[in-house]
Amino acid sequence: MRTRRAALAAIAASASLALTLSACGQNSEGGSEEKAGSAKGGTIGIAMPTKSSERWISDGKNVVKDLQAKGYKTKLVYGEDDPDQQVSQIENLITQGVKGLIIAAIDNKSLNNVLQQAADAKIPVISYDRLILGSKNVDYYASFDNEKVGKLQGGYIVDKLGLKNGKGPFNIELFAGSNDDNNTRYFFNGAMSVLEPYIKSKKLVVKSGQSQLTQATTLRWDGATAQKRMEDILTSKYTSGRVDAVLSPYDGISIGIIAALKSDGYGTASKPLPVITGQDAELASVKSIIAGQQTQTVYKDLRKLADVATTMVDDALNGKKPQINDTKSYDNGTKVVPAYLLQPVSVDKSNYEKVLVEGGYYTAGQLK
Ligand code: GAL
Repeated sequence: MRTRRAALAAIAASASLALTLSACGQNSEGGSEEKAGSAKGGTIGIAMPTKSSERWISDGKNVVKDLQAKGYKTKLVYGEDDPDQQVSQIENLITQGVKGLIIAAIDNKSLNNVLQQAADAKIPVISYDRLILGSKNVDYYASFDNEKVGKLQGGYIVDKLGLKNGKGPFNIELFAGSNDDNNTRYFFNGAMSVLEPYIKSKKLVVKSGQSQLTQATTLRWDGATAQKRMEDILTSKYTSGRVDAVLSPYDGISIGIIAALKSDGYGTASKPLPVITGQDAELASVKSIIAGQQTQTVYKDLRKLADVATTMVDDALNGKKPQINDTKSYDNGTKVVPAYLLQPVSVDKSNYEKVLVEGGYYTAGQLK
């Protein structure tokens, strides 16, 4: 009761401060009205992993836009897939006095020390799409149902090959994401929970023999690395027979896989491309789906993710409890991080217009 009363008093106090300060803002010239409260008008630091993928560029833009609309200033940095660089970028943000941090980690285990610095400075930390591991100083996690992403990919392969109708056997190769990204095992395990029964019954055959997560990972989600692995598998294991399906966890990896397959002669009427999954609905991959190359992607509405993450940081800074919908799935090794998980959607040629164009994610013109 007392805590509740104290919290209400704090909210009332900050509201009256807000009124006073916004009144000041209105009086000042130039209209650069700073919203009030201890953090409003302050700066939020945003650390994104890389510009090499379109999705993270959108994430950066969306998060900046939403924070500005909520009255904050922003500092957005990209770590160029270098974990050390990301750590020093976050250190700099803390030194520059940011009020809150939104972080999509490069190496999810590398941030322990720097997050201690954030905690010492009382800066709330939102783990953005990728869970930060090993640190108790992660306040909230904003992401998608990552296991479901994998299930949608695996389920798509099952449906497309007609495995439920007893068709097969088919050859499949398996790709996973970066081993330093916590999402990787959720995607892979989700997909394998659907595919494994067919592997056991030999309706799906992993000809390379590489069916363990540790054999399938792709460091930093790099398309060229995946391309090289696919090429090696094709040369060494497919002197006879064909690849019927490839589990790919991410569009950038799918592009590499398709390049390897095409240089091996796939993509013609006599040797069609296999079923190839993906994730993120990146523009190049949606175009590839329309052109009949990549088969599927898993769409995650990044506009919603930015909204969830920025509302979390805003709430945390204003003494409000952020909305969460999962308190058990994401144990980071020191605590279960309270999470808000959004729903991913499977997209292929049959529904991209409805989901992506009618949903306002892309214009029809962008997909031409
Ligand atoms: C993951 C993310 C995926 C994909 C991948 C590569 O962490 O959940 O959606 O973007 O990184 O960037």
